[in-house]
Amino acid sequence: MSDAGQRVTIFDTTLRDGEQSPGASMNLGQKLQVARALRDLGVDVIEAGFAAASPGDLEAIQAVGRQVEGPIVASLSRCNKGDIEASWKALADAPRRRCHVFLATSPIHRDFKLKLAKDEIIKRSVDGVKLAREKFDDVEFSAEDSARTELEFLAEVVERVIEAGVGTVNIPDTVGYALPSTYAETIRYLRKHVRGIEKAVISVHCHNDLGMAVANSLAGVLEGARQVECTINGIGERAGNASLEEIVMAFKTRHDVLGVTTGVQTERLFPTSRLVSQVTGLHVQRNKAIVGQNAFAHEAGIHQHGMLTNRETYEIMRPEEVGFARSQLVLGKHSGRHALKDRLLALGYQLDEAQIDKVFADFKVLADKKKDIYDADIEALVVHGQILG
Ligand code: KIV
Ligand code: ZN
Repeated sequence: MSDAGQRVTIFDTTLRDGEQSPGASMNLGQKLQVARALRDLGVDVIEAGFAAASPGDLEAIQAVGRQVEGPIVASLSRCNKGDIEASWKALADAPRRRCHVFLATSPIHRDFKLKLAKDEIIKRSVDGVKLAREKFDDVEFSAEDSARTELEFLAEVVERVIEAGVGTVNIPDTVGYALPSTYAETIRYLRKHVRGIEKAVISVHCHNDLGMAVANSLAGVLEGARQVECTINGIGERAGNASLEEIVMAFKTRHDVLGVTTGVQTERLFPTSRLVSQVTGLHVQRNKAIVGQNAFAHEAGIHQHGMLTNRETYEIMRPEEVGFARSQLVLGKHSGRHALKDRLLALGYQLDEAQIDKVFADFKVLADKKKDIYDADIEALVVHGQILG
């Protein structure tokens, strides 16, 4: 594959699937603020909402399309005239726009939600794509619940929507049911059996119900998918979507295996994560990969000693690469003498070895009683322990 083939399109759906997280609704101003941050981050596509869902969603997509220049702005639509017209109304003024149409293909959705037979699913998908193509040059089709769809039928749907003119075909694991091996098998099957597959970009869209959204997305990319749909902080329906920051840093850190790149300015990841957390009110767990407060914090003495000698002993990425100011050596009961000595020096205390031994002994007693040891506590140990006379 050429170099261009190694570039993965980052399709951010924080403002659409992410906003579907219970409690994550954003107002117009907040959506614009997040959209600008996503542009600065360097994502390729911003899915700004689902125009037919509400007048507010339509207005927000319209505002993002008009005011946030650079990325393609997408609006989600079901395969019907009303939805596609709503997306057109929202995006008619956007310089770069995409209509994202979807229809479920799995047996459970066909039989219980849609009550449609296979041939009706194909007809409705093709008609939806053709309708969208009358207005939009750039159309994406998603076969909702692809991961639970019979492979042969999925391949037939994909082939038909490509014939109808889609540029991107998305294979969602809507309920986070896939495993990396089964999801890889789905993408491999489509690449092998769908006539004309090379005319469309294959996209992955994975939910996190079994905690495998990122692993499944990477498995899809290894099989040739070249668009990844993801959200900041992994927010989204139920357990969320694949997390953008984890995907992008996996590509960067394990380029040796994954072999693909993105246009994301990774040092914007942490500020963007903070912004999304603030506007949605959805807290980022402390130990969240890449952007959690503990992602670059080390407490164990052995780790701290390693870090002070060579940070690569315990860090596979540099904190600055993702927008953190620095790694943190947190002082607690697991910390060792090296880290304490380092902190004393940083606080301006040049102590001899015997003095450090004394502070270290007092520090261990304090750390057994107190969860967080602050700089003020260290200073108090030095002063009250009469280390400096
Ligand atoms: O999870 C899903 O299937 C979706 C589609 C609408 C793309 O979000
Ligand atoms: Zn989704």
